[in-house]
Amino acid sequence: MATSKRGIELLQDPSVNKSTAFTEAEKQALGIVGLVPDVTETEDLQLSRVMMQLGHKNTDLEQYIYLLNLLDHNETLFYRTVMSDPARFLPIVYDPTIGEACLKFGHIYRQARGMYLSITRRGKVKEVLKNWPQKDVRFICVTDGGRILGLGDLGASGAGIPIGKLELYTACAGVPPKYLLPMYLDAGTNNEQYLHDPLYLGMRKTRPSTEELYSFVDEFVEAVQDVFPKCCIHFEDWTGVDAVHLLERYRDKYCVYNDDVQGTAGIVLTGMITAAKIKGKKLSDEKYLFLGAGSAGIGLANLLCSALVQEGLTLEQAQSRVYMFDINGLLETTRTDLVDFQKPYAHRHAPTCDFVAAIESIKPTTIIGVSTVGGTFTQKVIEAMSRINERPVVLALSNPTEHAECTPEQAYTWSKGKAIYAAGVQFPPVHLNGQTFLPGQANNFYIFPAIGMAVFAAQASRVTDEMFIEAARAVADQVPSDLLNQGLLYPLQSNILETEIRTAARVAKLVFDSGLARVSRPADFESFIRQHVYKPEYPAVEAVGATKVEAIRTAKPAKSA
Ligand code: NAI
Repeated sequence: MATSKRGIELLQDPSVNKSTAFTEAEKQALGIVGLVPDVTETEDLQLSRVMMQLGHKNTDLEQYIYLLNLLDHNETLFYRTVMSDPARFLPIVYDPTIGEACLKFGHIYRQARGMYLSITRRGKVKEVLKNWPQKDVRFICVTDGGRILGLGDLGASGAGIPIGKLELYTACAGVPPKYLLPMYLDAGTNNEQYLHDPLYLGMRKTRPSTEELYSFVDEFVEAVQDVFPKCCIHFEDWTGVDAVHLLERYRDKYCVYNDDVQGTAGIVLTGMITAAKIKGKKLSDEKYLFLGAGSAGIGLANLLCSALVQEGLTLEQAQSRVYMFDINGLLETTRTDLVDFQKPYAHRHAPTCDFVAAIESIKPTTIIGVSTVGGTFTQKVIEAMSRINERPVVLALSNPTEHAECTPEQAYTWSKGKAIYAAGVQFPPVHLNGQTFLPGQANNFYIFPAIGMAVFAAQASRVTDEMFIEAARAVADQVPSDLLNQGLLYPLQSNILETEIRTAARVAKLVFDSGLARVSRPADFESFIRQHVYKPEYPAVEAVGATKVEAIRTAKPAKSA
């Protein structure tokens, strides 16, 4: 790697800093002799120091802060740490710790990361984007903090989400970090607590009208096309209605996607495919009832219907297998409060606000919790599902942990071990009546980093639903077959990079087959993806340009008398 930086300036750049791993020749050439200890350590030795220091951090949040600080100083060592044990570190750098980190964002803030663009900069967005030092940005993950995880409107405190999400592009699928830009669009917040918190880091204004917000987002999206022409925009954690509407507004015009809508849908579809496999059925043999009809629910219902159409159903037949229930009860044709995108799932049915009654009447094979409300899959719900089904499929996806619609222990206990279960967060194995169950985590981090890697390598011009369905199928195909009988619906996290490389290869093939690639078609997609994978290893750093540094001769040790 070539750099024109020298001395302290170089050590302060996390993308080139090797800390105690510079060679003597690099120290000489880069003017850092005496600025770092006179040793040359390996990455593994540095990693063992990181692990030791992490061992002294008593809470997940402290570990999160430590790791983010490491990222601010030494990018390679950060990724080496996270990628050394993804099952251990993903819950620290992302869900569930990120929820607490966001809630306290203004309090634990150390250093700027990514960009903060406020609605007061309207008319100047392009100029602001040009302040970002990296000119070839390939992904912007952007939120307005409108609906952070299941925690509601966190405004600027939601800025932790794009930071964490983009770390996963690298840690899970090997997208090189230099191409990634986390972005917070500040349009205010309606969160009273933050509006009165002196340490809150956003505008102290309530949110504008939808029209004003969308015109700001329009300017942002168009400015990105000019300033970063190869960039894909990943929308994350907007309110449900904004998420769906903004996706519709841009998806056919620009390279954009919404992870809450499409990524969640993709990973839940994986779980549905695997659950059907465990039961020896097809997706189209199943009937689905959702608790929650927001961005995650609608995105999933739409993607599921597209997958059902690929299995040979008409769209109407597919939609007739999907029912939804929200805060106001079952979505049915007499409801007058539904938004346009919910209407395809409002079927002829008597109105009801009783979820158990809805289960008994609709007889779903699968219930999907995307309601944001913990404990809503009660004992009565699970017992009703178990009366109707030999193997009820229970997907309790809301997060963070305490928002899960039910725990795996509850699902397995109340169904007497019959439930096939997954959650949005990782729960430990459950031991019941001498059997061990492995509750899977329907975490989008199996999907969006792989989609990202495929888009990055193929320079895709659009992100389509078909790409998410292909990713879902690719992930499902990689669940170890010997663990299916323990109810595992997802591949093991310990092997996530390999899983995502293979998934990205299948998605990349689809990108080429659909005519959306902007590079030449490779002969072998897996090796094509592997060529693009970032490795957390220090490259040799070479001094170019700028001032030449005078060599500091090493004195020979004096001979002892
Ligand atoms: P949203 O706010 O857009 O929608 C929530 C929906 O739940 C609305 O339709 C609302 O009417 C309904 N609801 C609220 N309280 C209810 C109740 N007591 N009974 C029945 N329905 C109720 O939220 P969004 O974006 O759809 O997210 C939903 C949940 O899914 C969140 O907790 C989020 O963390 C989770 N999620 C999980 C992901 C995963 O990977 N597992 C990824 C994305 C979201």
